Amino acid sequence: MLKVWTREVLSEYVRTKLDGYRLIVVSNREPFQHVRRNGRIECVQPAGGMTAALDPVMRACSGLWIAHGSGDADRAAVDAFDHVSVPEQNPAYTLRRVWLSKQEEEKYYAGLANQGLWPLCHVAFTKPVFEPGHWKTYRSVNQRFADAVLEEAAGQPAFVFIQDYHFALLPRMLREASSNLVVAQFWHIPWPNREVFRAFPWGEELLDGLLANDLLGFHLPHHCRNFLETVDATLEARVDITSGEVCRGGHSSLVRPFPIGIDFDDHSEIAESQSVSDYMERWCRDLKLDGHLLGVGIDRLDYTKGIPERLRYLDRFFELNPKYRGKLLFIQIAVPSRSTLPAYRQLEAEVESLTAKINLRWGNAFWQPVMLLKQHYSQPEMIALHRLADFCVVASLHDGMNLVAKEFVASRVDEDGVLVLSKFAGAARELKDAVMINPFSIEEGARAYLEALTMHPDERRRRMLKMREMVDQNNVFRWAGKFLSDLGKIDFPEFEAPQFAGGRQSHPRVSPLRRLAAAV
Ligand code: F6P
Repeated sequence: MLKVWTREVLSEYVRTKLDGYRLIVVSNREPFQHVRRNGRIECVQPAGGMTAALDPVMRACSGLWIAHGSGDADRAAVDAFDHVSVPEQNPAYTLRRVWLSKQEEEKYYAGLANQGLWPLCHVAFTKPVFEPGHWKTYRSVNQRFADAVLEEAAGQPAFVFIQDYHFALLPRMLREASSNLVVAQFWHIPWPNREVFRAFPWGEELLDGLLANDLLGFHLPHHCRNFLETVDATLEARVDITSGEVCRGGHSSLVRPFPIGIDFDDHSEIAESQSVSDYMERWCRDLKLDGHLLGVGIDRLDYTKGIPERLRYLDRFFELNPKYRGKLLFIQIAVPSRSTLPAYRQLEAEVESLTAKINLRWGNAFWQPVMLLKQHYSQPEMIALHRLADFCVVASLHDGMNLVAKEFVASRVDEDGVLVLSKFAGAARELKDAVMINPFSIEEGARAYLEALTMHPDERRRRMLKMREMVDQNNVFRWAGKFLSDLGKIDFPEFEAPQFAGGRQSHPRVSPLRRLAAAV
């Protein structure tokens, strides 16, 4: 099948359709961090699906990305405007860093975003914490980012593309401050049903903020429906669930599903590189993989990812299939995440104790079934591990999309390997050829491991080929292109005709998004 969306197609699309309009992306997590290591400053990519997905889009489109500067050497790397060009080797766009105090980080990021909204939006049975002080700081940090956007846009028309649940109030702040901005947001995590949302004490203000977006995206249609029903139950607004439109106070917002993807070509190319082959050899040597079957999990150490669950599947698997003792190795990379929070520390302790228990129960002097690696690895190292695996498990209890599932598929340039996938990850809607599990069922998980290990090679190949085609087609450039083209379908008031600074020509009165709408 001919691939429609590539990096080049998106780049051209943005260049011609958003001509003259600045693209400004806003997220909490920055795509590149500067950190001090062994007396040197290094530029690294933090873990997490959102930045990994957006970075190739920004490389294709250029523009400005505003994010929290959280690396310990970030300040040393920026210029007088808090700008730094990224990526380091081949700069393609500008990163503007916003500085937060430790206290702001604790209340806005660790507090409201990750102890409040994160558990509220995920069905993982962790109780959310709602503190008025967290909410107050969340509001003031959103204002800080609004000020940064307005400063960068400098009164000129810009398309502001906000990422995630850290910035629910930002759209309203921007809309009130400037009429020259088109504002859209992508919510990378699920949206809860309206009954669950009722627990959020500042629900009206949060929804009011989000409804200042021209377009609001979620991964899945049912997250859109949950959102629309929540608005309908909470605010005075005209909500059309079928067309995905909300009208409130004379402004309309479109609410649409856009399942995110990855840069499949780039990922596959890296998977075929010499560096990945070298890492494959290194993993084999270091882990003494020789002749063993290999199961792999790569995740942030987060309670939504089902890490204890997948270890329990393994325990049950050995109970049911003792002949695999000494033959199967399971490697879990658990990248430390949000580790100041009690729920994350408890999870870490649970995963460590389960690993020890399983190794004690089933291991011997020559073989330990589980290896837990609690650190961040480079992309080629992770791809190498994915390439070596007989199966990869993604056992999320609830997940907006889960890009690890797509990365595993893109890594398998040999068209082999089995994906064991939770049906509660957004990726399950596309990757129907995975071995699907209910992550809460230990029996299903154990059965899935056996199915993966005994699947006929022809069947493995058939399934992997289908999944590769899906991940290839639904790549991140398609995600961004579809988002932009839906934005173009909105009937915007025409912008004022501002003068570009530096004596450049004045901007045409017709919104580029209207021109874009005419073209799709
Ligand atoms: O998926 C939600 C999300 O916040 C993403 O934006 C990000 O990729 C991931 O979780 C990592 O979280 P954090 O930025 O808190 O490390």
